Parts: sequence; C-alpha cells; structure tokens
Amino acid sequence: MKSILAIYPGSFDPVTNGHLDLIERGAKIFDRLLVAVLQNLEKDPLFPVAERVEMLREVTRPWPNVDVAIFDGLLVHYARQRNAQVILRGIRAISDYEYELQMALMNRKLEPGIETVFMMPSEAYSYLSSRLVKELVHLGGPVDGLVPSIVEKRLRAKVI
Ligand code: PNS
Repeated sequence: MKSILAIYPGSFDPVTNGHLDLIERGAKIFDRLLVAVLQNLEKDPLFPVAERVEMLREVTRPWPNVDVAIFDGLLVHYARQRNAQVILRGIRAISDYEYELQMALMNRKLEPGIETVFMMPSEAYSYLSSRLVKELVHLGGPVDGLVPSIVEKRLRAKVI
C-alpha cells in the first residue's frame, strides 16, 4: 500500500500555535509528516536551529507520525532525498498566496514529482506569525494562546 510522506518546511523561529494547528491537520491527512527546519546561515534567527528543533520535538510529541529534522540547501533536493511526495505549506490570508504560489511553481519546475499541498490554519491564527510574536515579547506584550507555553518560557528567557 502507498504511504504518503509530507514535508512541512519552514523557519519555525519559533514554532507558534498556528504552525501546530497546521501540523495537526497534516498529521491527520498524511501517513507521515516531517517538519523540516531550515538552517539558513544568512538569516539571523532568534533561536539557534538546534533549539528550534528541540521545541518542535517537544510540542509535536502527541502525534506519533510527526518527525522533526533540519535541512539546508534546496528544499526539493531534501524532499527527494527523504522520498517525500508532498510539500505542505500553510496559507493564512490572501497576502501569503503570491509568495507561496511562486515558491510552489518554482519547486514544481525543479522537481515535478513533488506536489505542494496548501492547508489553511484555523482563522483564529490567521494574523499570527513568528515575527509578530517575537516583537510582542520584545516589547513586553502578552503571547498567551499564540505559542505553546514552553516556547513562551524560552522567549521570555531570551529577551530578559
Ligand atoms: O517559514 P518560512 O521562512 O516561510 O519558510 C520558507 C522556506 C524554508 C520554506 C523556504 O525559504 C525554502 O524552502 N527554503 C529552502 C531553499 C529553497 O529551496 N529555495 C527555493 C524555493 S523556490
């Protein structure tokens, strides 16, 4: 029987409840879901990639078919190496669409055998992003309900 592995790639700096909502939806649809954290040496992330992975592993523990890994280089190369058939991405609002479409079509050109699947997180998270969460914490705002509590603790520890 065919087993579908989907890769859910991203920066996850840090993982938010919006990401988790998508992971939960993806884990229901696909046989296996691999959350792939980009190690981007050019960007200046708040959390080192090892810490982002650690947080993701902890918060995805409830889903036995979800795994977490690090990748660098081209996503489609990594997806091929892992024998993934699907790239999963979330679309929150129409503003995400243009960039996501561009990325999906470029990935399709590079690797026609891998399909990008878009899912929508709950509308409760349609305004949520890792960037805004970091800004909120930096400025002393509340982030309850936006990130898992272990992430909030680490965010506060970083900022203080
Ligand atoms: O969470 P993000 O920052 O929106 O995730 C973007 C990500 C990691 C999915 C994208 O930057 C990516 O796939 N980078 C890997 C390099 C690559 O394959 N680039 C070509 C994409 S068309």
